[in-house]
Formats: sequence, C-alpha cells, structure tokens
Amino acid sequence: MKILVTGAAGFLGSHLAEKLSLLKHEIVGMDNFIGGYKDNIPKNIDFHDFDCCDLKKMNEVMRNVDVVYHCAATAHEGLSVFSPYEIGKNNFLASSSVFSAAISNNVKRIIFCSSMARYGRQQTPFNESMPSKPVDPYGIAKVASEDLLKTLCDLNNIEWVIAVPHNIIGSRQKYDDPFRNVVSIMINRILQNQAPIIYGDGEQKRCFSYIDDCLSCLIPMLDQKNLNREIINIGPDEEFVTINELSEICANVTGSNLTPIYKKDRPQEVKHATCSADKARKLLNYKTKTDLKTGVEKTYEYIKKRGTRPFNYHIDIEIKNDLTPETWTKKQI
Ligand SMILES: NC(=O)c1ccc[n+]([C@@H]2O[C@H](COP(=O)([O-])OP(=O)(O)OC[C@H]3O[C@@H](n4cnc5c(N)ncnc54)[C@H](O)[C@@H]3O)[C@@H](O)[C@H]2O)c1
Repeated sequence: MKILVTGAAGFLGSHLAEKLSLLKHEIVGMDNFIGGYKDNIPKNIDFHDFDCCDLKKMNEVMRNVDVVYHCAATAHEGLSVFSPYEIGKNNFLASSSVFSAAISNNVKRIIFCSSMARYGRQQTPFNESMPSKPVDPYGIAKVASEDLLKTLCDLNNIEWVIAVPHNIIGSRQKYDDPFRNVVSIMINRILQNQAPIIYGDGEQKRCFSYIDDCLSCLIPMLDQKNLNREIINIGPDEEFVTINELSEICANVTGSNLTPIYKKDRPQEVKHATCSADKARKLLNYKTKTDLKTGVEKTYEYIKKRGTRPFNYHIDIEIKNDLTPETWTKKQI
C-alpha cells in the first residue's frame, strides 16, 4: 500500500514510518521540523519538508495514497493555554489541510492520532464511550479535528480510525523541548546534573506507554476491517504512576540523588489522567510488553548515546502573565 505519514521526523511518526516501510509498504513522509529531529527520518521513505497547512503541497504528496496516518502536531498540552494560536494552527488547521487533501484524493482510510487530552477532567480511567470534554486549547483542537474527520469521512464514505495514545516514551523523542515530554526532560536535566522539575505537589497520576507497545496498536489500524469508525485508547492501564514516583524511577535508572525542585501548578493541568485499555485488548489484542522502568531505561540509553542538549525554547509564548510558568518565561529548564 502507499501510505502517507505526517510528522515523519517526529517521535511517533518516524517509528511508524520505519515499521510500515519494513512491512514493505511504500511510505511518503512529511514534516516541517517545528519538532522532531532530522536524523529521525527513516531511510527508504520518500520525505518532503513542508508545513501541513500548505494545502497545495499536501495535495501533491497525497496523489495515489491509499492510507494516511496523521501524526503531525505540536502536542504541547501545557503550553497550549499560553500559545493557543500556534498550537491551534498545528493541530486543527494542519488536520483540516490533511483531511481535505486526503478526501479529495480518495484515500481509503485516515488514521488520526488524537490525545487523552480529549477527556479533560472526567472520572478515571477514561474510556472511549465518555463524551469528549477538553479543558485546554490542545485538547479542544484535537476534539475539533476528530469531529471534522468524522464529518468529512462519513459524508464521503471514507474509513476513519481515531487512536488515542497516552504519554509515550522511547528513543527519538525530542528531549530538548522544555514544554513537553516529562520523562525525556527529567533525564536530559539529570544527565546535566540538574534536578528534575515537578509542577504542583507531584501527585498528578499518569500512565506511560513504551513506543513499541503503541506501534503494536497503530499498525493493525492500517487495514483491520472492524476498526473502521472506532475511537481506541492505546497504552497500558496496569501501571499508573504519580509524577513524584516517575521522578524516583528516573533517579534510580540514572543513578542520580538530586532532589526534585517543586514549582507552582500549571494552569488547567488535569490531576488524574489515566485510560482504560479494555477496548484495545478486545479489538487489537493489546498487551503491555515493556514495563515503565524498562521504558525509562531505554529512553535514558537513547539520550545518553545521542548526548545531552541545552533546552531550546522553540515556540513563542503568546500570553505572558502571572499564570505563565516561570520555568518557561525565565527559561529555568
Ligand atoms: N507522544 C505522546 O506521548 C503522545 C500522546 C498522545 C498523543 N500523541 C499524538 O501523537 C502524535 C505524534 O506525537 P509525537 O510525540 O510523535 O510528537 P513529535 O513532536 O515528536 O512529532 C510531531 C511532528 O509533527 C511535526 N509537525 C508539527 N506541526 C506541523 C505542521 N504544521 N506541519 C508539518 N509538520 C508538523 C513536528 O515537526 C514533529 O516532527 C501527535 O499527533 C500527538 O498529538 C502523542
């Protein structure tokens, strides 16, 4: 099959493009490098450097494509409260362009990477039958993109699948981004002898999935018949962890004894965000193969090997006021 992967220089998109190419599919990739790394791009794919919002170019790369995996996004949930324009553009507007080109080029199926941010502050664990109730611009843009996808695909009789990953870790994740990717930030800091930073009391509860476990769900979404028109959480639900515990795991894995630094809560951060994997178990035979500690170890090995990097404040903070974390305004990370 000919498959377009957006965000192919990013963490998830690059792994996905590589895996699909190993399965002998013809892969077209694209990215504008607002995130990701150039050396993430897999060999043997036809890669294009442009912005998703460029509809003309999107239509060009979409020719004869059978299936689209839309992974490109600025997945900056915390920052989105302070940079709603930039995060909105790279989520909703970017998705509109991808879906428009995909539909006008008659693709068979579109797989959209949404986010757990779609659930907002509901009772945990979140399951797919809950209504979407996002509480920040990132989640709002993801839900709007989901609605757009469903509306356009149903109208044009095109298959869609919505994947809802949560907190993925592993190699190729951007670790010099001060705005997101907590495990990679903690490790990049510890390797530079700087203590992990924790927002609020650190009792926020999360679940992390290792990249390979996430891929094992995304691959069957390519053509498995019974997944058409389904929204599916992907990731584990057996190892919930607080940010305090996560920081301890990072300390153990790296052999660090640095004491975490606590900062004010981030506005709109959801306290407990964990998902049920029941539907993934049922439809995708999902099993967690890599536990959290092993996932953190593998992420550590990647960052250590590639070398630590100074943090790069690559996205402008649009709203700077008393609510904006000083870790960002004062570049403390
Ligand atoms: N990583 C996670 O924990 C996680 C969790 C839930 C959902 N997701 C979703 O999975 C997808 C991939 O996330 P990721 O962690 O790999 O992020 P990533 O930042 O590593 O990759 C995204 C890529 O998209 C590119 N991009 C962003 N805006 C673009 C635009 N306008 N035009 C072209 N390229 C653009 C970036 O340059 C980047 O390389 C995203 O849609 C994200 O919302 C990720």
